[in-house]
Amino acid sequence: PAGRLALLQAVSELAVAQQMALYIVGGFVRDLLLDRPSVDFDLVVEGDAIALGKALSEKFGGRVVSHKRFGTAKWQLFEIHPQLTKVLQTELKISVDDFPETLDLVTARREFYTYPTALPTVERGSIKLDLHRRDFTINTLAMRLDGQHYGDLYDYWGGLADLQNGLVRVLHSLSFVDDPTRILRAVRFEQRFGFRIGERTRELLDNALSLLERVSGDRLRHEMKIILEEPKWKAMLGRLAELGVFKAIDAEIPWDQATETRIELGMKSVPPVEWDVQLSQESGVLPISLAYILWLVELTEEQAKATSKRLRLPGWLRDTLLAVIRLKEDQSKMKEFSPSEMVNRFEAEPELALFVFSLVLTDDSLTKKIERYFLEWRKVHPHTSGDDLRQRKIPPGPMYGKILDQLRAAWLDGKIRSKKEENKLLEALLNEDK
Ligand code: CTP
Repeated sequence: PAGRLALLQAVSELAVAQQMALYIVGGFVRDLLLDRPSVDFDLVVEGDAIALGKALSEKFGGRVVSHKRFGTAKWQLFEIHPQLTKVLQTELKISVDDFPETLDLVTARREFYTYPTALPTVERGSIKLDLHRRDFTINTLAMRLDGQHYGDLYDYWGGLADLQNGLVRVLHSLSFVDDPTRILRAVRFEQRFGFRIGERTRELLDNALSLLERVSGDRLRHEMKIILEEPKWKAMLGRLAELGVFKAIDAEIPWDQATETRIELGMKSVPPVEWDVQLSQESGVLPISLAYILWLVELTEEQAKATSKRLRLPGWLRDTLLAVIRLKEDQSKMKEFSPSEMVNRFEAEPELALFVFSLVLTDDSLTKKIERYFLEWRKVHPHTSGDDLRQRKIPPGPMYGKILDQLRAAWLDGKIRSKKEENKLLEALLNEDK
């Protein structure tokens, strides 16, 4: 988009003024060469990224948030978007929507990992070394943006050839040891682009599988989420399974055709609007959550508890999963349930669990019952209220709940059908109690 191009040119001018080499690196260059344009900029400078960020905000406005330790600056543009179209002085027609909210500037650096999976120690360095710490050669291409170098491609680590040959290759033998989540990234790039993981890289990957045990559930779920949002997620998961990645993460994580079909069902299912299923706050990622539940739903309750812990599933997600497993176990019993028994059973579980249960149960008559529960049964309440009981001078206590429940059950099971019948039953219950 014209706005982004003009912005890059503006950054480039200031980099020249500060005598810094400016590069756009990584995914953007890779995707440009693959003819898959992206607008995610990864900008690296040989020089002081924080100083460049400050110069940008002095000239154009906006705010800069910098991290001295990492030599990074985040230039926040959203405050200046409207004026920016004017200040950029370009002949191109710019729309305010073309601009990113923020622009990240990074000082070329060399990282040392003091021990595997530790936070890296950072040292200033050149672009070549900066690129060397990246995961795969195809992500090490850099395009220079400053002055006369504008558009020059830098290929220090053989990325271009690998891109042309469709190879995912690490740069050095410790890449997966530095960061075992790269195993999942390797598969994601391989399947996304229809590439192959290189032979030596595959060996290193196999050797690093056992390190996945140490990777936190949060980091793994972060990678899984990115995968599940990719169009080719099925091929990616299949490949991860083939490479033994799931087994390495947790021995109980299943994989087979049926699991894949279930996950697919979960990802494309949404509760019917008229069911008015209450979702918890995090349900913005509903397809991903449903994917996890349907993935693990065939485990026993004990296994599911352990795997949820390993993956650090959010509490509500774990509870929903466990509820579906219990509902599945009770399936045959439920066939005999009266409507009031059904309501008692269902009201004890998260609403989302009932919806997922409706996707996996095998008995159609139960599907109907879940539907009736959401549409009718759960809305059934007796005319009598706690206030009415108080007026009848019944001493407050557990008795109230018991009586009201019995009245509700009678309605649900068709034993009473009018207010008059309800009153008759109420009298009978009160007499019985006396
Ligand atoms: N990177 C890495 N190791 C990781 C994660 C990221 O070396 N575990 C590097 C990669 O070289 C990548 C860059 O950091 O190019 C930016 O990461 P990310 O935005 O995740 O990668 P993209 O290549 O932009 O991937 P995508 O196309 O999926 O956005």
